Amino acid sequence: RGASVSLIRCIAEPAEKTTYTTSVNRNANIAKLQAGYLFPEIARRRNAHIQRYPDAKVISLGIGDTTEPIPTVITGAMEARARALSTLEGYSGYGAEQGEKPLRAGIGAAFYADLGIDETEIFVSDGAKCDITRLQLVFGPNVTMAAQDPSYPAYVDTSVMMGQTGLFQSDSQQYSKIQYMKCTPENDFFPDLSSTPRTDIIFFCSPNNPTGASASRKQLEELVAFAKKNGSIIVYDSAYAIYTSDDSPKSIYEIPGAKECAIETASFSKYAGFTGVRLGWTVVPKALKFADGHPVHTDFNRVMTTCFNGASNVAQAGGLACVSSEGLKAMHETVKFYKENTKILVETFESLGFKTFGGKNAPYVWVQFPGKSSWDVFSEILEQTHIVTTPGSGFGPGGEGFIRASAFGHRENILEASRRLKEYFGSKK
Ligand code: MLT
Repeated sequence: RGASVSLIRCIAEPAEKTTYTTSVNRNANIAKLQAGYLFPEIARRRNAHIQRYPDAKVISLGIGDTTEPIPTVITGAMEARARALSTLEGYSGYGAEQGEKPLRAGIGAAFYADLGIDETEIFVSDGAKCDITRLQLVFGPNVTMAAQDPSYPAYVDTSVMMGQTGLFQSDSQQYSKIQYMKCTPENDFFPDLSSTPRTDIIFFCSPNNPTGASASRKQLEELVAFAKKNGSIIVYDSAYAIYTSDDSPKSIYEIPGAKECAIETASFSKYAGFTGVRLGWTVVPKALKFADGHPVHTDFNRVMTTCFNGASNVAQAGGLACVSSEGLKAMHETVKFYKENTKILVETFESLGFKTFGGKNAPYVWVQFPGKSSWDVFSEILEQTHIVTTPGSGFGPGGEGFIRASAFGHRENILEASRRLKEYFGSKK
């Protein structure tokens, strides 16, 4: 440690050198994308760092990837299902593409009780990120879209891939034809809707990744009213709702009228702490209609049955255990553990004089470095402390001047990261 800061610029993997080419034109929409997807790019930089410092004990506060053992009530159910597959009576092949009925009902009871969501409106899947892509397939290339800035990069990147955008504008660091809804400490991380132009689709993540900000009931009422006034569809990402500590809504359907204008996508990845198992869900209410009166539900069902063969039956057994009363208790214990990590990180950065946001309703701490390039801060922290973070600008131009610290990690690593950060930034004071 202690080497001088050297900046690594974003570079793509070198293409294999070969003279032969096919006659197929590259997808011009994919060609519009700038650098690689954020998290593989961070992994690449982390690996380059490890090559330079083979003895360094690198700690990741980068990608939000869960680290703790999965509660046995969940793994036990998956184990039993896997073993049953080896028996004549217990074997099952393809299941319903929309998910197994008991799991759809269980998700409904656990997360949407009294919100008027029918189990047939819940589609079980291999994760919220995959559903975002399948939703883009439903919407097609001709819709306009808005997203919070900063936000989870999959919204913008899939929109670019689908052909909904123009080219990347290097001056604004934005793709043309996307409305970037700026979310900053100044507006309490809620966009100024009065100056936001109408779009067909509005991606909205709450609690937000990366800022950790949760929209209040009043703000969500404003968002729903805005969408209804404009005839827009909200894609509401509630992947972190279980981390909510205050009384912010955990589902968009807590807002009256949302069923006519919103889809909600969520996941067991961060709820149960099993990102690798791959299980999520998306709610498409039957009351949500396209301009011609056709239900969005029917088209999402068409995409799911065509492009997806249903979530793994073993994973669904784990999901069913998650929504049992024992499973729900176990999930809350796991979440509590990560929330304690979050508290340690918030205290660490605050004690060093940094302004932090989030951390209360999400496992992410959004740390402000005013006037600094977030990639530079990322590189400095990596170089000086061997800690991987995520540069704020990776989530959109509105993330410039911030880094995101993820609270997913073993406790000893979080404490060690805290110690290193205090040592390095404390010595700079
Ligand atoms: C993140 O780090 O933002 C998430 O873990 C990525 C994801 O959920 O795909």
